[in-house]
Amino acid sequence: MEFNWDELGFDFNPTGGENVRYYFKNGAWGEAQYTTDEYIPVHMSSACLNYGLQAFEGLKAFRGVDGRVRLFRPHAHAQRMAAGAKKLCLPMVSEDMFVESCVDIVRRNIDFLPPYESRAALYVRPVLFGTKPCLTVKAYNEAGFCVFATPAGPYFKEGILPIDAIINRNQDRSAPLGTGDVKVGGNYASSMLSCQEAHDLGYKAVLYTESVHHRYIEECGAANFIAIKNGRYITPKSPSILPSITNSSLRQLAEDKGFIVEQRPIDLEELPTFEECGACGTGAIITPLGNVFDPETGKNIHYCDETGPVLLDLYNTLQDIQYGRKEDKFGWTVLVE
Ligand SMILES: Cc1ncc(COP(=O)(O)O)c(C=O)c1O
Repeated sequence: MEFNWDELGFDFNPTGGENVRYYFKNGAWGEAQYTTDEYIPVHMSSACLNYGLQAFEGLKAFRGVDGRVRLFRPHAHAQRMAAGAKKLCLPMVSEDMFVESCVDIVRRNIDFLPPYESRAALYVRPVLFGTKPCLTVKAYNEAGFCVFATPAGPYFKEGILPIDAIINRNQDRSAPLGTGDVKVGGNYASSMLSCQEAHDLGYKAVLYTESVHHRYIEECGAANFIAIKNGRYITPKSPSILPSITNSSLRQLAEDKGFIVEQRPIDLEELPTFEECGACGTGAIITPLGNVFDPETGKNIHYCDETGPVLLDLYNTLQDIQYGRKEDKFGWTVLVE
């Protein structure tokens, strides 16, 4: 499959390249099965189809300015998937197995890794899913684990641009003691309606509040919320948000640049006091918020028409490491030779 890298979308772009799948049965993972088949046979009564027993990850490999290929923080993604597997009582994928299979799939799909100049990347998607045919809801020791890759265009083709968000208080994406802190499909299912409603109103993102008081900020769409104020990098602390690997990297970079990093509950009332705010995640790294609208009060907070200097600098610094333009002094990238 040939791609026009400049027109590459952000969504799944089929390549015809190889993926890998493993099956867990009788207490052990079987051999790696490589295939170009994009379908996975699952039983109609399988735990993943019927009870949502599924956890996944999303990470990226970048072709650097030096031509070398770097996979960003696969060990951290492995640990987060392990946390999801534990919560869903699915068989564990060891850190080594996770990282090696991701590296292997990048290597096997190297022809689909966009060139450096395109500012695109190869998106790697590992998925763990319960395969046991069952009707009783309980833990079963049978699962599949697959890893596939797809080239993904840069989220911002015209450079990093602010988007508008709407505050949500009427559909919770997760509960304090639920599954919001792990990357499992159910969290996305429970946010579909609010996303659709926001999009229908012309907003690109939903600013979720926690499900107890609907007063403290949780996440911004499928990304963590971040804000800048008075030399501080502020991001919510909550048991029901996903520990974003991008956010943890940005916190480190912000600290390195002399910012005070605060992870704490953020009251909606604090929103007007921020100098810059945005969403962060693997997909776009940072998406600045231009406006935040509160449908309850009818008030709009305008932040910017162009990305603020702090978020732009953090974005550029992280991309510099991912594309090999700056030394990776934190050891975040794994070279795929
Ligand atoms: C709900 C949610 N929060 C945050 C993130 C950002 O996480 P990461 O930076 O690890 O991609 C994602 C994306 O994976 C997400 O789906």
